[in-house]
Amino acid sequence: MVQKNSETVISFDNVQKVYSNKSGMTYVALRGISFEIKRGEFVAIMGPSGSGKTTVLDLIGTLDSPTAGTITISGKRVTEMSNSELATLRNEEIGFVFQSYNLVPYLSAIQNVTLPTLVSKRRGEEVMRTAAKLLEEVGLAGKFEKKPNELSGGEQQRVAVVRALINNPKILLADEPTGNLDTKSAIAVLQILARVNREYGTTIVLSTHDPEVGIFAKRRIFIRDGIITKENMMQKLSETKKL
Ligand SMILES: Nc1ncnc2c1ncn2[C@@H]1O[C@H](COP(=O)(O)OP(=O)(O)OP(=O)(O)O)[C@@H](O)[C@H]1O
Ligand SMILES: [Mg+2]
Repeated sequence: MVQKNSETVISFDNVQKVYSNKSGMTYVALRGISFEIKRGEFVAIMGPSGSGKTTVLDLIGTLDSPTAGTITISGKRVTEMSNSELATLRNEEIGFVFQSYNLVPYLSAIQNVTLPTLVSKRRGEEVMRTAAKLLEEVGLAGKFEKKPNELSGGEQQRVAVVRALINNPKILLADEPTGNLDTKSAIAVLQILARVNREYGTTIVLSTHDPEVGIFAKRRIFIRDGIITKENMMQKLSETKKL
């Protein structure tokens, strides 16, 4: 069991995001949102299509920058960091799981998983051991050498979750991680996220429009038209225990 503490790992202070295209059209995707996420939390960003969920995750993951406001990740103000500092932060502290698994088609499951370690100085042997252990933990023991097109959607998404975990991130971001999956595969992926949160103490932020997915998180932040409308915490402990 990982001890929780009250350290804030993600903080948004009045964050705005305006997208603009080449012809000068602008779209206000976030209208000044503020929230804090503490280490070890499992949070769902919920809202309908177009509400701003992916925008929030991209900003947390420093894949994009805000138009106004302040974002702090692991105590660092990302709005004041250089591109190379941001790349280091992403590589060392953040793991991504995307809706469309984004696996490299010509690489095997285990090669996909170990890809993010190529830029680090980790030893090949240790990386392979960790990758094998994680793949086994998500039920892919016999499938290390399979290519993505030889795996089901649920299996591909589990490979993508393991790839996001390989560098032992403090923060795991999952954008509609079950959007393309049937119910059984979706539950399997969500249970893995819940276990990672519980056992490794990884802070998890996922986005979903689906209340049945949101229930797996311990806290939900609802957004609509780029504004936070409400929040709620998991009320019944019994609901989390069954995961
Ligand atoms: N690059 C962009 N340029 C212009 N507008 C954009 C861009 N990216 C997103 N938007 C707009 O910003 C709003 C929020 O988009 P976002 O992708 O964050 O929504 P979402 O909640 O993730 O939706 P979905 O559930 O469909 O994935 C949308 O109205 C979208 O059209
Ligand atoms: Mg989205």
